Amino acid sequence: MQKLAIYPGSFDPITNGHLDVISRAAGMFDHVVVAVAHNVEKMPLFTTKQRVALVESAVKGIRNVSVDGFSGLLVEYARQKKARVIVRGLRAVSDFEFEFQMALMNRRLEPRVETIFLMPKDEYTFISSRLVKEIAWLGGDVSNFVTADVQRALKEKIAAG
Ligand code: PNS
Repeated sequence: MQKLAIYPGSFDPITNGHLDVISRAAGMFDHVVVAVAHNVEKMPLFTTKQRVALVESAVKGIRNVSVDGFSGLLVEYARQKKARVIVRGLRAVSDFEFEFQMALMNRRLEPRVETIFLMPKDEYTFISSRLVKEIAWLGGDVSNFVTADVQRALKEKIAAG
């Protein structure tokens, strides 16, 4: 059986922590689809198209990873893709409560889909897209947390106001 996993998220923007989880998942499954949620209610800084492009550029060295945008329910998207596994990253205990709730809700909506959690390397556990955006916005250096393309995209967004 082809083992396919979906790694969903907002990726606004993708960080080195996300990338670490993607590499780990790519080592465990035949194929990983990074699914970028349209997520308008979160009012993302980058459009879905921009977020997809930034993930694509970040994962171009990983053979068995592809990138897609999705809107609507995640379990519906998983069904469409015939995927049975959703991967989520867990950085700290503070992530757990929401992730646990989401995993159990998704299981209730679609019992055939399992959520698994992967821990990024400890040096990435404090990175979040939200903090990266805040640091970049305030003129701080984010080069240790994101790829060069993401850095450039953040600079352009900030310059555009
Ligand atoms: O990177 P994020 O913002 O933590 O990712 C959250 C995401 C996109 C995985 C979550 O909001 C999601 O699954 N959205 C799709 C809509 C959906 O299925 N909602 C019900 C979740 S139980």
